[in-house]
Amino acid sequence: MVRMVVMGLCLAAGPAICSADARTGTVAAQTVAPATADAGTGAIAALGRRMFFDPSLSASGKLACSSCHDPNYAYGPPPGKAIALGGKNMDRGGTRAVPSLRYLHQVPPFAEHYHFADGDNGPGGGYTWDGRAALRREQAKLPLLAANEMANSGPTEVAERLRRSSYAEDFRRAFGRDIFDRPEAAFEAGLQALEAFQQVPSEFYPYTSKYDAFLRGQADLTDAEERGVALFKDPAKGNCASCHGTVIRDGGLPTFTDFDYINVGVPRNPKIEANADPAYFDLGLCGPARTDLATRKELCGYFRSPSVRNVAIRDAFFHNGVFHSLREVLHFYVERDIKPEKWYPRNADGSVHKFDDLPPGAPDNVDHDAPLNRKPGDSPALTDAEIEDLIAFLQTLTDGYHPGPDGS
Ligand code: HEC
Ligand code: HEC
Repeated sequence: MVRMVVMGLCLAAGPAICSADARTGTVAAQTVAPATADAGTGAIAALGRRMFFDPSLSASGKLACSSCHDPNYAYGPPPGKAIALGGKNMDRGGTRAVPSLRYLHQVPPFAEHYHFADGDNGPGGGYTWDGRAALRREQAKLPLLAANEMANSGPTEVAERLRRSSYAEDFRRAFGRDIFDRPEAAFEAGLQALEAFQQVPSEFYPYTSKYDAFLRGQADLTDAEERGVALFKDPAKGNCASCHGTVIRDGGLPTFTDFDYINVGVPRNPKIEANADPAYFDLGLCGPARTDLATRKELCGYFRSPSVRNVAIRDAFFHNGVFHSLREVLHFYVERDIKPEKWYPRNADGSVHKFDDLPPGAPDNVDHDAPLNRKPGDSPALTDAEIEDLIAFLQTLTDGYHPGPDGS
């Protein structure tokens, strides 16, 4: 597949299609007071913040959204917690790595076919690693009700927890005195509040990395960082930008993802509880978490390409969190097809079980764009020194940079 460097489908397509903000107020708003007008700023977002940090919304009383999406880690997982425990007794394992919730404001709606100048780029958009949630308010239902996460039995239980919360009165003030007499509406109102909180720019898309400062002319890159960004963009070297887009369009800073789905051929993670069953495979777009594309075998193993902003403060990478350092990720990208024995286990007969997280007989849809375009005997797309430069660049994408007086 030929891929072009694309950034911000949203910016290209226009805010009406792209901004989740613009789309809110159309779906669940019929059941609650029309309160989305202040999305991101006012009372509703403030309520959403209270909810986001409130463990009493979970059946265990121990798990808040922030337990997995920690603001100190760009709303991604705290160290060692990428595959999180949850459930009533906090003993049910997660099946996927917790993503950062930053820079999701430009995620376009899921579509099976995204068309760019170079033609059909395949599936893109939607929330979660498999795009099964169209809106963030739909997405929030997933952790609130999942048996291995916050484990509520249904909307009524969530509404009851909200009624008993310390901010119940604020909730009534925002959504109507009788809101708790209508549990479904109270649940929807809660989802709306969580969504509004996740649209607060200073929290969720602050653009305060060194690279943003550099793009604004407020900081200089070191030589290593400069070499790193060139390798990131170079189609013959890292080629990273072809999926983790760096283009500035319509004045918007880069997203570092094109929101597309690709099968990178990530190795199976034996530490995921569900993987103890050899018949279980997390295949992204074709299921089992997502159900509408189950028959589309050509989409098995496809996961949404994440933004690499703030990636340097993660300690688990890819949808199944199998790798634990950027160095490992980058060596995997360039050695997957050169030294598969380093990355995949062996079969009983001693042969390498390449792509061991895809079921036997799965169609060959693993990506072979650079740097994943080598074969045994070839030299890797990046040398060790180039990998270090790329890491230096990725580290400039961490939010919270304060330019020194000399711009260093
Ligand atoms: C037990 C850990 C855990 C808790 C608690 C949790 N999440 Fe998540 N969150 C995850 C995981 C894992 C994923 C990826 C899910 C998937 O791909 O199926 C995710 C995905 C998301 C996404 C989609 C991100 C993207 O890149 O598309 C959003 C938004 C989100 N969570 C918001 C929330 C909110 C709001 C809450 C509280 C109501 C919450 N989460 C509670 C673990 C958690
Ligand atoms: C062909 C598209 C493509 C190319 C080229 C590509 N990536 Fe990715 N990248 C993805 C996808 C898709 C994922 C998620 C795959 C998964 O989890 O199964 C991903 C995941 C990652 C992650 C893990 C992020 C996280 O939150 O877990 C990092 C880091 C990363 N890529 C960096 C890079 C770098 C650096 C390069 C260039 C050397 C690169 N990628 C090239 C598509 C691509």
